[in-house]
Amino acid sequence: MSPMFVPGPVDVAAEILAAQTRPMLPHRAKEFEAIFQRASDQARQLFYTQYRVFLTASSGTGLQEAFVRNFARENVLACINGAFANRWYEVAVSNGKAVDKVEVPWEQPITPELVAEALSERHYEVLTVVHNETSTGMQNPVKEIAAAAREASPETLICVDAVSSLGGAKIEMDAWGLDGVLTSSQKCLALPPGLGLGAVSDRALNYAASVPNRGWYFDLVRMEKHRLKDSTPATPAMSLIYALDVQLERILAEGLDARFERHSAMARRVQEWAEGRGLPVYAPSGYRSQTVTTIRNQTPRPVSEINQFLGMRGMRIANGYGALKDVTFRIAHMGETTMEQIEELLAALDELLA
Ligand SMILES: Cc1ncc(COP(=O)(O)O)c(C=O)c1O
Repeated sequence: MSPMFVPGPVDVAAEILAAQTRPMLPHRAKEFEAIFQRASDQARQLFYTQYRVFLTASSGTGLQEAFVRNFARENVLACINGAFANRWYEVAVSNGKAVDKVEVPWEQPITPELVAEALSERHYEVLTVVHNETSTGMQNPVKEIAAAAREASPETLICVDAVSSLGGAKIEMDAWGLDGVLTSSQKCLALPPGLGLGAVSDRALNYAASVPNRGWYFDLVRMEKHRLKDSTPATPAMSLIYALDVQLERILAEGLDARFERHSAMARRVQEWAEGRGLPVYAPSGYRSQTVTTIRNQTPRPVSEINQFLGMRGMRIANGYGALKDVTFRIAHMGETTMEQIEELLAALDELLA
């Protein structure tokens, strides 16, 4: 059965699966280094950054850990309005940081005003914020949050989790003044899971050099030394990097703006469909995700039954996440998903609801 409308791991094109079967090379060989360099260089276009993109043999959570370990000696301010933001908070706490929260109910966005207020009360080294909350289908206004944060506390490093939006929504790291942006391979980039991509500004990397106990595996200062030689301190996830190299070509051939527009057109269609059927979209208008829609399940059927029906048609949606598990369902419209597939899904759901 295809996981088509699940917010990761998403379907991977056959050509990309095949790219992984390329034979292994010694990872210090010039031939591999050329592939590594091309992939990490090209990846910068996805982040709209002139800085560097680290490729880690980890999922996105590894980079959540890397960012708090490298960019904070002591204190972090975590914005929380969903399950993954809360995970980042827990990651920071379990790495021994003193973490304060800007927390709002899950059905509300994080506002620039709240962030500015918290940052003006005391100094924080790092601000963490999730761009696209995969649990709630909320897109936080990161551009505005970053502008407010820069004004209230220019030294604070602004770190953004874009796990479920980078490559599906435009996130302009440099223009927005972000210091660290992380994502995972298995969502909008439509790759198999297991690769983290983390873009880091110069000022963040300079600060990291003064932070003790950065660990070893995720020490970004060490990684940068190796990256400058087109390599990594430990063995990279070579097959995934082969796949990334080919997938970046496909993504850039589609065109980033066209790709973002495809995602937002699918989002609009799904959201209009839900509201047209009397099913409320969880996130408020103006803050809805372009890549995944969380819908209150006011149908008479539990998600398991909906999926049983869809399964007979080779389709699958996702149940709610965390606290929203039983009361919402989620339709992902990310990666290589097309409007035709969305129409097919919505027609099947209409058939079921009728
Ligand atoms: C917004 C967000 N952040 C972090 C994560 C964790 O990413 P990973 O599973 O790649 O570690 C997820 C996973 O779904 C996510 O959606």
